[in-house]
Amino acid sequence: MHVWSIANQKGGVGKTTSVVSLGALLAQQGHRVLVFDLDPQGSLTSYFRHNPDEMEHSAFDLFMHGGKIPDDVLENVILPTSIEGMDMIPASTALATLERNVSQQDGMGLVVSKTLAKLWDQYDYALIDTPPLLGVLLINSLAACKKLLVPVQTEFLALKGLERMVHTIRMVMRSQQRDLEYLVIPTMFDRRTAASVKTLKTLREQYDGHIWHTAIPVDTRLRDASREGKAISQIDPESRSARAYRLLLKNIVEN
Ligand SMILES: Nc1ncnc2c1ncn2[C@@H]1O[C@H](COP(=O)(O)OP(=O)(O)OP(=O)(O)O)[C@@H](O)[C@H]1O
Ligand SMILES: [Mg+2]
Repeated sequence: MHVWSIANQKGGVGKTTSVVSLGALLAQQGHRVLVFDLDPQGSLTSYFRHNPDEMEHSAFDLFMHGGKIPDDVLENVILPTSIEGMDMIPASTALATLERNVSQQDGMGLVVSKTLAKLWDQYDYALIDTPPLLGVLLINSLAACKKLLVPVQTEFLALKGLERMVHTIRMVMRSQQRDLEYLVIPTMFDRRTAASVKTLKTLREQYDGHIWHTAIPVDTRLRDASREGKAISQIDPESRSARAYRLLLKNIVEN
């Protein structure tokens, strides 16, 4: 199984959209895909028409069992999505309580790793959507993944946030004594605005070697897709954003 985390401490940069878009493309290629919602806001869960306030079973259950996750608990938390070949572990609002009550010391930093270990032969890819803050959930996600994708909005304010994020990654990696490849993904790029063009240029300079050199364009069709609970590659495969996500996926897989 290939495990990717999609993270940025800044909100609204296209994390959830990237999880759905990339996950759907992988599923359409015939891979067995699991998307994992670790964000207590549950945007990914809502995307697929489940209410994170009313989940009977969710990622929260996994944390209640710490490192020893019973098979029936695991079965209960996996739901199908509207995309063939793609399943989901939904979030629930209860996940937010973990950030307050649980620390890594309780052995809670490896719950996601242990969950995925149990599903290792069942899926080819797992994509983890993460909350925009550094806490036990993001740490779980970083500990479990092999690749980290960092969507960044192409606007000036995003640069500072990205520095913070990269610093966080380094800190967490040092404490976990491992190395993690990360790839910065410029999103919501609008080539008609000077700010977008300038930010993209700066990003390419500052993150040379860690950045995808193309960008996901701003595309309202992505909002339409989310409204329909489908992926962009399903509702409009030739749209600009669908084409960009295909290029991005190719780049990630080939590197
Ligand atoms: N390339 C894009 N062009 C236009 N709109 C986009 C694009 N990518 C995402 N959006 C829209 O922007 C909003 C935020 O995107 P998304 O939910 O993916 O961000 P996020 O990083 O997951 O946010 P949060 O931190 O709140 O979880 C959504 O309404 C989404 O449809
Ligand atoms: Mg999100």
